Amino acid sequence: MRVLIADDYHEMSRKAAAIVNSQVLLKPDCVLGLATGSTPLGMYRELIRLYQNQAADFSKVTTFNLDEYYGLDKENKQSYAYYMNTHFFNHINIQRENTHIPDGLSADINEACRRYEQRIAEKGGIDLMVLGIGTNGHIGFNEPDTNFIAETHRVMLKKETIQDNSRFFKSAEETPTMAISMGIRAIVQSRMLLLLANGEAKADAIYKTLKGTIRPEVPASIIQIHPNVTILLDRHAAKLLL
Ligand code: PGA
Repeated sequence: MRVLIADDYHEMSRKAAAIVNSQVLLKPDCVLGLATGSTPLGMYRELIRLYQNQAADFSKVTTFNLDEYYGLDKENKQSYAYYMNTHFFNHINIQRENTHIPDGLSADINEACRRYEQRIAEKGGIDLMVLGIGTNGHIGFNEPDTNFIAETHRVMLKKETIQDNSRFFKSAEETPTMAISMGIRAIVQSRMLLLLANGEAKADAIYKTLKGTIRPEVPASIIQIHPNVTILLDRHAAKLLL
């Protein structure tokens, strides 16, 4: 496991973009797993800048996002589909048919989840999975007490996640309480993991993930068993490691 500590959010984002772009340079038709939330915003901005400077080419890349809120239409400004379009896909040369985000509105959720897993498998699995981490140690929306062998599935969000996410909604009451998430199994089956965290609020989750025992109460702790993990932190998120 490599742990890289950047001075600040900007440097963390620049390095994250460089790692993702290296993957794309090495394998232009690679499969990327992508995260949403505030953490990767700077990385997406930097990848767009690289594309605009002709230093990145996403024309053959396939993407699978980690999660989506249950019950939100992709036109809804709080949906992760909307986030990915506005913060990344609209600004680069990716083929839309190569981008995948769990469908939060499907009439048959179980079938939609099964198809999502199947599409990942058909594409040969994920080469590089970009992960954020929740203050409670979740990855994707795999909340504490997660089933480590779960595949893509519907999850009930924990109180602290709803609270954390409510900053994007008018109130905690409007914040979705369920989501569709890629399971831990697909995450750890990815060939390389890149976990990003910035800010002091993540320091405790990062410490438990890296130094604690591997346990379902801290879903991210499972990455300790992965042979190819890069953890990229800013100084504040790394505070308890130093
Ligand atoms: P954040 O969310 O990037 O908005 O902090 C991370 C997560 O919940 O996985």
